[in-house]
Amino acid sequence: MMRATTSPAAPTMTTPFALTCTAVIAAALIAFAGTASAGVKTIELPPDGAELRPSTLPGYEKARAQCVACHSAEYMQYQPPTAARPYWENMVKRMKGVFNAPLDDADIPDIVDYLVKTYGNEQPKK
Ligand code: HEC
Repeated sequence: MMRATTSPAAPTMTTPFALTCTAVIAAALIAFAGTASAGVKTIELPPDGAELRPSTLPGYEKARAQCVACHSAEYMQYQPPTAARPYWENMVKRMKGVFNAPLDDADIPDIVDYLVKTYGNEQPKK
């Protein structure tokens, strides 16, 4: 006779942020396993819904296409709003050079322009 197994399914996500979460959750599950012997545990993951701030700049759509495949837009939100254009330029080049982000060189200036005007020191004054 078959018996259903009740092991908790491991979350499968692939962003670096999610990987960190997964590691934390895995540790929590291991801790749980020691105390609970039966039943499936459910865990609430924090929403990973951070999206790029909409803009009419041409770099917005390009960033949406090329910058949030590996991580959410949270990474951009947590950059200092005082960061100037060269900072963003280096960042984008680092994504390409170090992490092999599939960026088209021709799109980089537009993406940098969008980033510095949306998250950096060229944001419209409030
Ligand atoms: C190929 C995957 C990949 C793509 C595509 C990618 N990134 Fe990243 N990005 C990473 C990884 C991995 C990290 C984490 C680096 C770390 O923790 O040091 C990161 C970190 C960041 C950070 C956090 C600050 C830092 O320097 O670590 C920012 C901001 C960022 N990326 C912006 C961007 C932008 C803008 C784009 C588009 C031009 C982009 N990323 C495209 C992989 C990627």
